[in-house]
Amino acid sequence: MSSNKKFGSRLALVALVALALSACDLGGTASSTAPTATPAAGSNAVTASPTTAGSSMVMTNTASMGGGTAMTNTASMGGDNMANTVMLGAALSQSKTAKVYGDSQSKAIKMAMDEINAAGGINGKQITIDIQDDASNPKQAATVYQKFINDKVIAIIGPTLSNSAATADPLAQQAQIPVLAVSNTAGGIVDIGDYIYRDSLSEAQVIPNTIKVAKAKLNISKVALIYGNDDAFTKAGYSVFKQALAANGITITTEQTFQKGNINFSAQITAIKGSNPDAIVASALLPEGEGMIKEARNQGMTVPIIGGNGFNSAKLMSDLGQQAEGVYVGAAWNSAGGNQASQDFVKNFTAKYGNAPDQFAAQAYSGVYILADALKRAKSMSGADVRDALKTTKITVPLGDFTFLPTRDANHTPVVQMVQGGKFVVVQ
Ligand code: ALA
Repeated sequence: MSSNKKFGSRLALVALVALALSACDLGGTASSTAPTATPAAGSNAVTASPTTAGSSMVMTNTASMGGGTAMTNTASMGGDNMANTVMLGAALSQSKTAKVYGDSQSKAIKMAMDEINAAGGINGKQITIDIQDDASNPKQAATVYQKFINDKVIAIIGPTLSNSAATADPLAQQAQIPVLAVSNTAGGIVDIGDYIYRDSLSEAQVIPNTIKVAKAKLNISKVALIYGNDDAFTKAGYSVFKQALAANGITITTEQTFQKGNINFSAQITAIKGSNPDAIVASALLPEGEGMIKEARNQGMTVPIIGGNGFNSAKLMSDLGQQAEGVYVGAAWNSAGGNQASQDFVKNFTAKYGNAPDQFAAQAYSGVYILADALKRAKSMSGADVRDALKTTKITVPLGDFTFLPTRDANHTPVVQMVQGGKFVVVQ
């Protein structure tokens, strides 16, 4: 509760900042009438391609400002494009800290969009999803949201990080455009307003179970706690871990912190090692989480390491190999088993992209289906009608039989996984 409150008051502040930003320096984005999808300045955007014949979209390649190539779908002018397509926006981290999650999300979103369009779209209209890079950064996420608002998108997916959502979501709330978060797990996100939903389980929904299961399986009574103290998600995870550890009678030997971009964990791990814990509990995004694990193993620590949402990537195993073995990870989804939708998703994603999907992909893919279902049922494409349709969601997706809680949070069961033989295996 205390973390939610703290985040809530922070959100009030960032909402004001975001609104001020939107009023001051975000006015130069695309016109509100033409559904053009020009990448926001500095972004390295890839816009999802339309999939069916008859769509009046043209593809243009434009050199991006920041190196690399931006692929942009530009709606052809003068056609009946608006009438024949349902335009959504997705703000995903395709660069910087959270790129690993954003890349996975954008693949899954494109796949879901193609499937839905091939099956007839939204009551005969094709979906177009304008995917823009939020650069793992709150200000860039706000810039992208402002572009979506100007373009009059029907709904927004994202942004990848809670840290960015805290700044960007108030803009969508103000503009009455529904947002479906597909990876935000910090407390307080859905409290931004009644247009904000999420299909990603929060830290508070996942971590208590992770600690309970880890205690039972690993017989731990004292742990070291390490977290990023400059990010909404890692701070939220820290608070929830702390409460869950106390609730399970596990004491904390030392608390250590780091910031985004930290690559040297020598001081933190030296302190942790000296405190002689039974395990290390970490609230971290993947790049820093990996650095921490590597240093712990390099210093000869063999104790279990327990992480949260940020560890849900196959990159953990491909980057760390043997050093990742035995790491516990709380998650919303595991690729093994699951319902038929999940098994089909894993099979089709793997066939299309050559690698298995992770939890971030499953949540993003499910999110497009959840939105499409609401759009089909909505009385109109107005923000209020789409918001109301989301409220009564009842759909089977890879995440399971999916509904929203009255809080607009996701309503399904978390899992605990551990790395075994280079893979996530469900512990319970
Ligand atoms: N779960 C992470 C966040 O909320 C990605 O920021």
